[in-house]
Amino acid sequence: MKNILVTGGAGFIGSAFVRQMIARHPELNIIVLDLLTYAGNLNNLLAVSDEPNYRFVQGDIASRSDCAVVLKEYAIDTVVNFAAESHVDRSILEPDAFIRSNTLGVNVLLDEACRAGIGRFLQVSTDEVYGDVAPGAFSVEDDPMLPNSPYSASKAGAELLVRAWRVTHGLDTVITRGSNTFGPYQYPEKLMPFFITEAIDGRPLPLYGDGQQQRDWLYVDDHARGIACALFHGESGRVYNIAGEHQARNVEVTHQILDLLERPASLVRHVPDREGHDLRYAMRCERLKALGWQCEHNFEEAAASTVRWYQENEWWWRPIKSGDWRDWYQRQYADRLAAADG
Ligand code: NAD
Ligand code: DAU
Repeated sequence: MKNILVTGGAGFIGSAFVRQMIARHPELNIIVLDLLTYAGNLNNLLAVSDEPNYRFVQGDIASRSDCAVVLKEYAIDTVVNFAAESHVDRSILEPDAFIRSNTLGVNVLLDEACRAGIGRFLQVSTDEVYGDVAPGAFSVEDDPMLPNSPYSASKAGAELLVRAWRVTHGLDTVITRGSNTFGPYQYPEKLMPFFITEAIDGRPLPLYGDGQQQRDWLYVDDHARGIACALFHGESGRVYNIAGEHQARNVEVTHQILDLLERPASLVRHVPDREGHDLRYAMRCERLKALGWQCEHNFEEAAASTVRWYQENEWWWRPIKSGDWRDWYQRQYADRLAAADG
């Protein structure tokens, strides 16, 4: 590996991966290809923008010419694909963009990467492809994919394409399935950054349904290290779960955020539930641990440092919470908050 293409590298997890790779691997060249959708942000990459082994190219993984040009120009030998529409609620309202980037885009990227003769292709996927997990059970890599939202279906479709390129064309592929990730530079539409930034301003926190849904929480640096571990040491054709092994109910996470910010519980509003809401995700990740990876951050400390980061970095999120974000807020929450209970 010498020239690594990181698609979607201006987003939340992709940018953490890029910052980590630049800091730890000066021998590798990191080229980011990102469309800069509403979720892509060059401020996430400011820390590496002057590094000699980093390049940024604006482009679309669903465009054959964008992919072909960057693969050739930078003599890419490895692809790590983070590029995706990533928010479940948006996929319920506007599924087309999800199929386009997450499924068709992966088809184009795989095909162009294969034509360019690359070595390894790593697809960043999600625990949501397993669907709802029964209380007490844990998903392992060989379990069937049973996605329930347009987002998770589009990601499962991408995984099947990755499999097809391996079997049909002999491409060296690895897939990672990460759990709910949190940390600095996350677009404030996902539960943690949304609730933290809203609570800082003393605004209502719209908790879906009874708030008893459970997620497994994974700190972003642990997720990025897990992806690097699978990239460098993973066996070709394998899937690797990456879990934080910290399951918590949404209502618990919400109250932890309020406590850390010393804001009152009265900010919580129980609003009408997300359609098709998966109640629980939980995974085991022994396969990745066998490669030497382990979680380095405990949830309580990482949540506290994440809250502090949003308190200290208003320059990053305040400009985002205008324009497009306001339109999204209106569409997703105006009616829900009007119907709120409590
Ligand atoms: P994000 O929404 O913060 O970033 C996505 C990035 O992809 C943005 O920079 C965006 O501009 C870019 N992008 C979107 N469509 C593109 C296209 N067609 N061509 C090029 N770039 C495009 O997402 P994230 O939370 O960082 O997630 C990154 C990946 O990790 C996604 O594939 C997601 O499915 C997966 N994942 C996310 C989580 C999570 O909790 N956030 C957990 C597991 C897996
Ligand atoms: O599990 C991995 C997945 O985690 C990733 O693949 C997705 O890209 C990522 O968005 C995330 O999906 P979730 O739907 O679990 O994350 P989100 O932050 O949107 O919601 C977390 C939980 O909080 C979920 O049960 C819904 C609930 N929620 C969310 C929002 C935004 C609320 O109750 N209110 C809200 O306003």
